[in-house]
Amino acid sequence: MPRISILPLNLRNKIAAGEVVERPSSVVKELIENSIDAGALKIEIDVAKAGRRLIKVSDNGGGMDREDALLAFERYATSKIRDDNDLFHIKTMGFRGEALSSIASVSKVRLFTSIQNETGTCIEIAGGDTKEVKDCMTVGTAIEIKDLFFNTPARRKFLKSDGTENYHIVDTVTRAALSHPMIGFVLRMDGDYALDLPAAVSYRERIVQIFGKEFAEELTETWTEDGVMGIKAFLGNVSHLRNNRNNQFLFINRRPVKDQSITYAVYKAYEGLIPKDKHPVFLLFMEIDPSDVDFNVHPAKREVRFKDKTGVFNFIYQAAKESLNSSMGVTEYRSVGEIMPAYKSYADTPTPRHADTVSEPASLYDAISHIDSIPFLYLGDTLVAIPDKNGLAIIDYHAAHERINYERLLKQSEVNGQESAVRLLFPRQVKLQSSEYRIILNNRKVLSDLGIEAEDFGHGTIVVRSLPDFLKDADVNSLMSDTANFLISDLRYHISDASESIETIDSIKKALAARLACHSSIRGKEVPDGMRIAQLLKDLDTMEDPEHCPHGRPTRIFMPMNELRKMFKK
Ligand SMILES: Nc1ncnc2c1ncn2[C@@H]1O[C@H](COP(=O)(O)OP(=O)(O)OP(=O)(O)O)[C@@H](O)[C@H]1O
Ligand SMILES: [Mg+2]
Repeated sequence: MPRISILPLNLRNKIAAGEVVERPSSVVKELIENSIDAGALKIEIDVAKAGRRLIKVSDNGGGMDREDALLAFERYATSKIRDDNDLFHIKTMGFRGEALSSIASVSKVRLFTSIQNETGTCIEIAGGDTKEVKDCMTVGTAIEIKDLFFNTPARRKFLKSDGTENYHIVDTVTRAALSHPMIGFVLRMDGDYALDLPAAVSYRERIVQIFGKEFAEELTETWTEDGVMGIKAFLGNVSHLRNNRNNQFLFINRRPVKDQSITYAVYKAYEGLIPKDKHPVFLLFMEIDPSDVDFNVHPAKREVRFKDKTGVFNFIYQAAKESLNSSMGVTEYRSVGEIMPAYKSYADTPTPRHADTVSEPASLYDAISHIDSIPFLYLGDTLVAIPDKNGLAIIDYHAAHERINYERLLKQSEVNGQESAVRLLFPRQVKLQSSEYRIILNNRKVLSDLGIEAEDFGHGTIVVRSLPDFLKDADVNSLMSDTANFLISDLRYHISDASESIETIDSIKKALAARLACHSSIRGKEVPDGMRIAQLLKDLDTMEDPEHCPHGRPTRIFMPMNELRKMFKK
């Protein structure tokens, strides 16, 4: 009796589906890509219950006749390549001929399709088996996917909260829309419009539709090409920085991909211009001869392999560098070491006790009357050393400032954020990405407890009416986008509904407070002066936990004189 057997077709398809269909957004991606390949100029996507109940993608593309429609759900059925030569000259999004068969094996599918002037076809499939084929009236193609993973419960269990799955869907549609500006996209989630993007004439117009005018104005657009490749780059200027990499997009031949070496090339171009802990915004639309790149590397086509990896790296680096040089208003970011002469160290010259050349105080210090400056020695990074007759204190001024902002923020949230929040004289309109917009609106209560009052202005825009005192001078766009992305990616928290427990809300609030506290805390590049250090220490002493920043790192370390003596064997 042989132990080896060939797996039945159904099981083979389910195994393939494991690679292609990871979650609802993978279905959305595959269906959109098919619509793009069919020459659609408008693609509408409807999802219900985060794609678990329904995903429907309708297009006005070329459609299929009945014979093709029936074949489309077979494994390895494709109209896009014919031989291995084609595999290395891919011009379409799809080519593996496995998306529809994979999707159909783990869901209930209805397809409506027709080619011009012909009676349309409707096909119903459940778990890979064709149930019904009949005539229908339709234009283009619509594919309805119901009850995803109904026959693979283990897979279903891997799905995350509705919020997370919705986030991935919005992200998928956003990426497809960015790389295909000439196609109109509509995304409805449980009946609400999440994206409504009419056909645009350029990448820039699409960027404005998605991210807003203000965001787009901060981007320098350049086109660079050599004989083999070209790149349309939109690089954020050096003051348009983020705390995460969420606003970085790379497309190769209009395909959204991830590529570490290209990302590295861009960071390399920004080197020396931005602080190490910040991330630039960029959108790169790269075109390369299909024979110089292999798209058949990853089942979901998220990665590529270049024939000449070094050539691509150098090309991207040069293109990014030139774009940054050409952008107006680029100011070199100087490292702490370079700006230090402005803050003469204690060792060189003792800081005067009443410095009269104090730089303008930051908001935290606005309300403070005169306080004696203390001598200190700047050690590098965000560390300063302060001598004392009892020993030596080493302070991480960034961590200390974070702790102070954090506790103040939480204290104010106990009185509902209103007390020390500042109402903005000119409320700020902020255009956000659809996923960011939804999360901000869903969490308005938590935000308002922390002093951020945000109102819905419709169409992906919110109006910020108040901010916590210490954030009143922050860049509101980047603050709101960072806050949204923090809720989405770091906390993986999405819907604050009434059933959410007080403890959960409380821990969200604390985590968010820590993030906001960090947002405006003194960074490495602005070395504070003796007066600010003195005030910082004074404030720190009034904190509940003066020893740690909100993330648990120490704010200060003290080396007693007798310990120091011991070290010197005295
Ligand atoms: N929306 C659509 N309009 C017209 N034809 C379609 C549409 N969707 C699928 N097809 C046809 O069905 C075929 C099978 O689609 P499927 O997505 O399974 O494979 P593919 O797109 O060729 O390759 P891949 O698996 O890489 O996506 C396609 O090659 C195409 O001919
Ligand atoms: Mg396909």
